[in-house]
Amino acid sequence: MTRAKIVKMTEEHLDMEALREAGVLLRNGGLAAFPTETVYGLGGNALDPEASRKIYQAKGRPSDNPLIVHIADMEHLAPIVREIPASALALAKACWPGPLTMIFWKSPLVPYETTGGLDSVAVRMPESRIARELIRQAGGYVAAPSANTSGRPSPTLAEHVVEDLGERIDMIIDGGMVKIGLESTIVDFTEEVPVILRPGYLNRQMLEEILGTVKVDPGIREENAKVRPKAPGMRYRHYAPRAELTIVEGPEEKVTETIREMAKEKLAEGRRVGILCCRETAGQYREGRVFPVGSRLGEDSIARHLYEALRQFDQENMDVIYSEAFDTPRMGQAIMNRLLKAAGHKVLEVQ
Ligand code: TXA
Ligand code: MG
Repeated sequence: MTRAKIVKMTEEHLDMEALREAGVLLRNGGLAAFPTETVYGLGGNALDPEASRKIYQAKGRPSDNPLIVHIADMEHLAPIVREIPASALALAKACWPGPLTMIFWKSPLVPYETTGGLDSVAVRMPESRIARELIRQAGGYVAAPSANTSGRPSPTLAEHVVEDLGERIDMIIDGGMVKIGLESTIVDFTEEVPVILRPGYLNRQMLEEILGTVKVDPGIREENAKVRPKAPGMRYRHYAPRAELTIVEGPEEKVTETIREMAKEKLAEGRRVGILCCRETAGQYREGRVFPVGSRLGEDSIARHLYEALRQFDQENMDVIYSEAFDTPRMGQAIMNRLLKAAGHKVLEVQ
């Protein structure tokens, strides 16, 4: 038995009664986890400092790591920000509701407890109907970090939320598996030129088609692993499984051969080995626990199953994990950003 009340529903069939109940819970300062198209969120009333404090406590999250304020309707943006730059408005028109978070200067309505003490605020309008209806029922402003214990991979299934927070929160809305599986793209509009603080489903090229020039925070590029990223949450080792994860990069044949050899060695030492790979190469690995996340030609599936694979390896008590690199064309930057953080930037290059 978990403490949290768990209710199931789908995007097509909203359980309005349960959503109203969750809305009342949030208005009264309680916490409820809910699905979005990116990952599950842990929601609390964003305008209630006490609710934000509870969120940090439930996640075990450092209180200087700001939360994203989720809204359901465009008219809810203006009251919480100082101004809306024209470029941000254009991006909102093109990408909201969707997997996009924008950073603005905050208005006094938003408590510092929600923004981790910053004068800026992150805002997102999710596409998920479950999420949007919950936000409306809750009064319009829901602070929601990913619904995982701080440092663990973000939840892509309600079961992941139960595992991490089932005993610590009041309610969990189970909407099945999320669509995207990686957290939203974050774009900062508090500087002259918009800056990507976290890569996601929407990549730089897609953003530049709407905004013109867009910068990428140098702190999130792997070659600059020592530069401090602007988004506080991007500074921590994060998305990490308990096992030691190494990424192996290079020509396919060399990669599979190296992983096979290393796995064999570890298995001989009696250690449990997980292998994260694509469907095309899965057949090359005969030992260890092989988890194909998706086809190289279908990168959506790789993004969607990445965190699930990392959590599955934890559940099966793996000691070491070897992963192929997934430099896919559209979401490769986002996938590799998360994988590199999960690996603590441990990469083995083979020729
Ligand atoms: O897809 C998502 O964005 C999910 C779903 C639930 O909406 N939420 C999510 O929240 O990923 P969280 O708290 O796990 O990540 C929020 C990130 C953190 O890296 C945080 O540091 C950054 O956004 N952030 C929030 N407010 C910020 C601000 N004012 N300035 C810079 N970074 C900010
Ligand atoms: Mg998170």
